[in-house]
This record gives sequence, C-alpha cells and structure tokens, in this order.
Amino acid sequence: MLVSAEKMLQEAFKGGYAVGQFNINNLEWTKAILLTSEEEKSPVILGVSEGAAKYMGGYNTVVGMVKGMIKDLDITVDVSIHLDHGSFEGAKKAIEAGFTSVMFDGSKYDIDENIEKTKEIVELAHSKGISVEAEVGSISGEEDGVEGIGELASPDECKRIADLGIDFLAAGIGNIHGRYPENWKGLDFEVLEEIKNKTKNMPLVLHGGTGIPEDMIKKSISLGVSKINVNTECQLVFQEATRKYFEEKKDLQGKGYDPRKILAPGFDAIKEKVREKNPYFWIKWKR
Ligand code: G3H
Ligand code: ZN
Repeated sequence: MLVSAEKMLQEAFKGGYAVGQFNINNLEWTKAILLTSEEEKSPVILGVSEGAAKYMGGYNTVVGMVKGMIKDLDITVDVSIHLDHGSFEGAKKAIEAGFTSVMFDGSKYDIDENIEKTKEIVELAHSKGISVEAEVGSISGEEDGVEGIGELASPDECKRIADLGIDFLAAGIGNIHGRYPENWKGLDFEVLEEIKNKTKNMPLVLHGGTGIPEDMIKKSISLGVSKINVNTECQLVFQEATRKYFEEKKDLQGKGYDPRKILAPGFDAIKEKVREKNPYFWIKWKR
C-alpha cells in the first residue's frame, strides 16, 4: 500500500529498528526493490532524486509507475515514494505529482533560510498528508548533482528544525555519499547523541548508507536512527553484474541482445543487495 513515511518511521523509532530507503533509477530498480520488500514482508521507502525523476520522465511518471507496480505485482507491504535531497521547487512539484513523502534539503542555506523554507514545505506537505524530511549540517560527497561539504550538524539547529513539525531529520554526523575513503574517521556518535537528546522523539535519518560498517549502523539505530539510505551499493552491484554479462559475451549468444536479457543479471543483483540490507536494518538489529 502506498503510504506517507510518517507512521512507518514512528513505529520504527518506537520499535528500535530502522527502515531501508533504497533509491530507484528506472523500472528494473523499482521492480527489484518492491518484489524483494514484499518477499521479506518489509516496509520500504523508494528514494527518488530529482535527477532520477527527470531521467525516468518526471515526477508523474514515477508516481504512475510505482502505483501500477503495487497493483500489478500485488505488493501488500507499506511503500512510500520519497523525494530524496529535494530542492524547494522540486519538493513542491513532487507533492503536486503525488509523492507520499518529500525531503527538502535546505542544508546549503543558512539556518534561518533553511527554517523558513522547510516551514513552508511542511505546511504544504502536511495539508496533503505527506511526510517531510529536513536536513541540518551536510553530508559530504556528491549524490546525483547534490554536493555537500560534510559539515557536522549543530544539535541546537537540529532542534530548531525539528520544532517546525517535520517528520524525520537527516543530520550530518560525518557520513558521506558514495564510497567511504580509507582514511574516513567514522560517524560522530557524540554529536548524534546530542541531537537525539535535543530533538526528543524525532526519528533520525542516516544518509550515505553504502559501506558503513555493521557496528556503526547498529549503534546509530540505538541512538534513534530509524531510516537508512542506500543508493551507491545497488549501483555498484548492478554495474558489476551487467559488465559480467558482456564480458562473458552473453550478448552474442542466442537472443542475448534482448534488453530484458541484458538487464536481468543487474536486476537479480539489486534484489540480492536489498535482501542483504533489509534484514540488516529490519529484523537482525532490532535493539
Ligand atoms: O540519499 C541517499 C543516500 O544518502 C545514499 O547514499 O549512495 O552513499 O548509499 P549512498
Ligand atoms: Zn543522501
């Protein structure tokens, strides 16, 4: 069922677990994530960057595709279509198109402007029953054209944003988009704990889920992280599986040129990755 992410994440926060957000890029990605979530009986958040939405045709195309798949594939678990790192204008368009959740990423603005813009998005989204994620501090690295400088979030600023009535909060705590460098210092749990104490019952979001060691994920969940975003890891396994298909020259065998055959190994690889990551957040590490 298509739902906002508010209830899903409140339940996760209270239950001491986290829900996975897996980003989608096309039909194969979406189908692989939905089918695996149904098989695992796990709620799921489909993350859609502005770039990915544009690539797929636009926000309306995304909503139509996800709704169609939920119906045709008999998906019964809770599914949320969530705008990932949305701009102010992008968030408004996604709300209009029927996304059930939006992230307004105002981390590039100074805190007062971030607050002002987040407030407007909260009012608009909540008037339509849509959940809102906001961001304070910034996630280092780049995701689909959105770059961050890796600034640690200020717990006081987190409180100011949380007080606007947002549904969940992304805070920069040393997490990075893409692959982590070998000299990465790890997540800053002191800051995370301060944020948790200041924001009280606010479900927190951990971006840059690719490659974070298991013990850090587990500790984050114990400190209030209720949503973990994974994107690059699915892209890496998709690339590897597709590359192998061509290296083994399967495209030259029989009807190996059929796009459905070409995309099948990558599809299976995404399913496997989502399965690996889902119990990871959902069952295995219930605190
Ligand atoms: O917003 C999406 C994520 O933060 C994904 O990060 O690509 O490093 O897994 P990742
Ligand atoms: Zn992110």
